[in-house]
Amino acid sequence: MSDKSHILIIDDEKNYLLVLQTLLEDEGYTVTATSDPETALAFLGESEVDVVVTDMKMPRISGREVLQYVKKNWPYVPVLIMTAFGSIESAVEVMKYGAFDYITKPFSNDELLLSIHNAAELARTHRQYRLLQEAMEERYGMHKIVGRSRAIRDVLIMVERAAPSRSTVLITGESGTGKELMARAIHYASPRKDKPFISVNCMALNPGVLESELFGHEKGSFTGAVAMRRGRFEQADGGTLFLDEIGELTPDLQIKLLRVLQERRFERVGGSEEIEVDIRVVAATNKDLATLVEKGIFRDDLYYRLNVVQVPLPPLRERREDIPLLVAHFVEKVAADNNMPGKTFSTEAINYLCGYEWPGNIRQLENVVESCLVLVPGNVIEVDNLPPEIRDEEAQFKSAVDLLPVQLDLADTLEKIEAALIRRALVRAGLVQVKAAEYLGISKSLLQYKLKKYAITGH
Ligand SMILES: Nc1ncnc2c1ncn2[C@@H]1O[C@H](COP(=O)(O)OP(=O)(O)OP(=O)(O)O)[C@@H](O)[C@H]1O
Ligand SMILES: [Mg+2]
Repeated sequence: MSDKSHILIIDDEKNYLLVLQTLLEDEGYTVTATSDPETALAFLGESEVDVVVTDMKMPRISGREVLQYVKKNWPYVPVLIMTAFGSIESAVEVMKYGAFDYITKPFSNDELLLSIHNAAELARTHRQYRLLQEAMEERYGMHKIVGRSRAIRDVLIMVERAAPSRSTVLITGESGTGKELMARAIHYASPRKDKPFISVNCMALNPGVLESELFGHEKGSFTGAVAMRRGRFEQADGGTLFLDEIGELTPDLQIKLLRVLQERRFERVGGSEEIEVDIRVVAATNKDLATLVEKGIFRDDLYYRLNVVQVPLPPLRERREDIPLLVAHFVEKVAADNNMPGKTFSTEAINYLCGYEWPGNIRQLENVVESCLVLVPGNVIEVDNLPPEIRDEEAQFKSAVDLLPVQLDLADTLEKIEAALIRRALVRAGLVQVKAAEYLGISKSLLQYKLKKYAITGH
């Protein structure tokens, strides 16, 4: 592939330029040659150039200025400097400004070609890395968090503020609410995005293995430790360490983690050398850590260390207005993943999905959409195609409605039902309005408005 690399050569000696161009083209490179540095800089802005080769001494714009301009705008493009006036001082100087190499004229063709070959290789590695990085950002960016409800918007505003800092983040929320997705989005919205995102599930591993998994081990530190191994803390250096299911950490590991968080330093299992790391910790749990602290299961000092910025992810039933958006998002995703055309959910089917409680939250919704897309023939998914648990809840609702006469005043009946539901919620909530509003999925002020409207006094 390196023979396809695009090389830009700048030299005010036209004859020399021609010789170089022919030499490089014979080697299979794509070459753009110009004797005018200004043309060269304009060209850089318009075309994808892999390597820049520039003469040092030119009228008006010098090779060093070209170098500085390229490094400022395209830091990953290697620049090779040629000069007939080479002195050790200027060589040192251009290397300091980030030149890839420095060649003194006259040089042998082999010398130049080797240097260009190396520069092109480096450029190619950088390009691949950038593509990968862009793909990761595209896949895990904040924009992938679907939702416009107030509940999720409040969270996103907070996360966008906190992401660029190094502050420890504790993400809480029921299973399937998107904790891992959020952890990744925080990483890719931070200045650490080009460094590793390393994930550890504290529940998946038994405590003995977890310690060496986190901190690494020295060769021979225990039976089976045949070689030194770096732990997740070391792998995450410069980046983000995601500690998932943090509530499952054993007391012993809680102490060790606390120490690393305080000192950013640790030793490998069986080692004595202190290792320093620069990491940002994001932790997640579906447990209520405060309760675990009260029960003495989770250390309070560790809890306070972790709970710097808390990101509580709302359960799906508290952001039902996002369900249609999420359904559309998952239809698109599943269709793309399986290389199949998308389908639509009928309006009634969507209404059923919006009414369901979703104990498994977004993950459960994603699974339902996927199974419907894969299993249902035809383009439209109807209520009958939905899994029974989702229909059942509606069935109960229907049977309640069946108690009412067919002929009625719709508006009046709906108001009566509404008033009855509010009364029931208020009683169940022990007359605590906030709680009743929560049962009904409405704001406290809306509840108060309705209490007035229906003259419900709460006695
Ligand atoms: N806001 C969202 N927009 C789009 N997809 C989402 C959103 N939230 C979650 N998801 C998707 O839902 C699924 C579950 O999310 P995730 O694994 O992050 O949840 P979790 O809270 O870590 O769950 P658990 O506690 O079970 O580990 C994933 O496939 C994720 O991509
Ligand atoms: Mg998870």
